[in-house]
Order: sequence, then structure tokens, then C-alpha cells
Amino acid sequence: MLKVEGLVQCYGGSNILRGATLAAGEGRRLCVMGRNGVGKTTLMKCLMGLLPVRGGRILFRGRDVTSLAPERRARLGMGYVPQGRQIFPLLTVEENLRTGLAAGRGGGSVPESVFLFFPVLKEMLRRRGGDLSGGQQQQLAVARALVTSPELLLLDEPTEGIQPNIVEEIVGTVKRLSSEGGVTVVHVEQKVQVARKAGDDYAIMERGAVVDSGGMDGLSEEKIRSYLSV
Ligand SMILES: Nc1ncnc2c1ncn2[C@@H]1O[C@H](COP(=O)(O)OP(=O)(O)O)[C@@H](O)[C@H]1O
Ligand SMILES: [Mg+2]
Repeated sequence: MLKVEGLVQCYGGSNILRGATLAAGEGRRLCVMGRNGVGKTTLMKCLMGLLPVRGGRILFRGRDVTSLAPERRARLGMGYVPQGRQIFPLLTVEENLRTGLAAGRGGGSVPESVFLFFPVLKEMLRRRGGDLSGGQQQQLAVARALVTSPELLLLDEPTEGIQPNIVEEIVGTVKRLSSEGGVTVVHVEQKVQVARKAGDDYAIMERGAVVDSGGMDGLSEEKIRSYLSV
């Protein structure tokens, strides 16, 4: 579904991605892990086309999308939820959801299926985004990416700064998206316990490259100690 080969990216003079390589199989949930500053967010932005890459390739469904604009990638079926949610606080929930439509393939209305996954939002359509709790804002951010019915969902730290019970809810919803909706998920996650629940597979980054990857069952305490503990 998604293949990333030797991605290189630089901010000014500094090399942030140094040949990052990973793959996410169809319908799988891949957790991308790694300490602060290793390049996880940069990788996600490159995958969505929000940052240009210097080298390497991104293949989505076998198609080379490396130099396509973000809107083109969205139309092909890629959805993106940025770190820090970035919803519009002064717009209503409904208006926030509508902003997601602009990125997508035709379709002028928010599909009802979004509310099957996030029923709480249906009751809050007229509320301002900024008046929601942090967990609700995160749900809104994921829901906004779903309005275009993506086949690949890129989630950048969706559980950051959120109460544990809402974290469980979000992880549960993402699992349903893949099991019932067939969506492939690339989920950046710093919390190991959450990643174990959320992912089928993992990829660990260090200094701009993926240094280890495999099935989540193979994520040993030793690997966690050497790559993830602070
Ligand atoms: N806009 C930017 N300009 C310059 N350097 C940046 C920018 N954004 C991030 N960086 C640097 O790139 C590195 C990787 O950042 P990031 O991808 O956000 O890491 P992560 O998401 O893994 O915490 C960090 O060293 C960070 O300081
Ligand atoms: Mg980040």
C-alpha cells in the first residue's frame, strides 16, 4: 500500500531525513516510533507532500507520488492528521469538518460514516472547535481527515496530551477504521504501551532513518531500551 524508499530531506543546511525506508501493507496499522527530534513529523509531512524531498521515493498503491502536490495525494486516497491537531478554534465542528472536503475527491458533503466512527461529534456540530476538550479536538482532527474517505491515514501523535480514557477511545476507533473500513494506518506514537495496542507493525527511527522494524510482537524490551527510552 505504502512504500518509502531512502527518503532524504533537509531544512536549510541540516539533513533531517537520511534515507528513511519503510513499508505499510494494505489494511495494516504501522506505528512509527522514536525519540523527540528524530524526524517523525518531517517524515509524515514528506509523505503527504507538505515538504519537498531531496531524494528517495514514495510509492502509494504502486504509484510514485514523490513529487505530487498534497491535494493530488489526498485525491488519490491519502489522509493526514497533523501533530498538535491544528483544528480551527473559531470555526464550528461542522465547518472544521467541511475544511477537510476541500482536499478531497469531489463530494460536497461530510459522509455520514464519519459519525459512525465519531458519534460524539454529531451532537456537537454547532459548537466551536476551540470549545471542545483536547480529546474531542483530536477526534475532530481525525474525523476531518476522514471526510475524503482515505485509504491511507497518516496520524502524527494523535494521543499526545490526551487523557488515558480518550486515548483508548481513539485507539479503538482507529482499529475499527482498519478492521471495518480497510484503512491502512501509519501512526506516529511515542508511548510504547499505546503503540503495542494500536499497531500490527512498528518502525523505529533514529536520526532521520528507520533503524529497526517488524511485527509488533517482536518489539522487545531490549529494543525499547536502546532506541526509545530517554
Ligand atoms: N521548520 C523547521 N526548520 C528547521 N528545522 C526543523 C524544522 N522542523 C523541524 N526541524 C528539526 O528537524 C528535526 C526533526 O524534527 P521532527 O521531524 O519534528 O521530529 P519528531 O517529530 O521526531 O520529534 C529536529 O531536529 C527539528 O529541530
Ligand atoms: Mg513530531
